[in-house]
Amino acid sequence: MIKVLFVCLGNICRSPLAEAILTQKVKERGLSKSIVVDSCGTSDFHIGELPDDRTLACAAKHQLNIQHRGRQILRSDFKGFDYLIAMDSSNLENVQKLAGKYKIMPKNLFLMSNFKNGIEFNDVPDPYYGGEEGFEEVYEILNASIDGLLQTLEKELVKNG
Ligand code: 4NP
Repeated sequence: MIKVLFVCLGNICRSPLAEAILTQKVKERGLSKSIVVDSCGTSDFHIGELPDDRTLACAAKHQLNIQHRGRQILRSDFKGFDYLIAMDSSNLENVQKLAGKYKIMPKNLFLMSNFKNGIEFNDVPDPYYGGEEGFEEVYEILNASIDGLLQTLEKELVKNG
């Protein structure tokens, strides 16, 4: 079993979309029992909220099911997940600072761009203050990178038997 946690700032735009995309791909490949997916935010801005309306519209356009309520990263997530994947370097820093506070030396922190696959980027851009086209750009970046991530996860599943 591999557990993946996507991390952004608010947990209402990028990371819930990433969660929905990976969940769908995992389902299509019949891997739902082997790969568990969740998302969270580094901030407490939107705890308990549904994803942003523009995230929901983008998901619906791409026939993705989103069932998520905003939550903030927890201390237990550092142990509970094998991959903590931050959407951008600012949120990776937030997660690293939190680990420092808890005196944890995590080896499972990644950037989404570590798995990039066909589309060049460093940070998944924060679409919150922009228009709908920003959400479509985020979708394209995530969809390509999550194919890259899945290649890594599938190799790991084969290696682990
Ligand atoms: P996310 O986008 O981190 O991709 O969920 C944001 C959502 C909310 C805010 C910023 C970014 N905010 O400032 O409330």
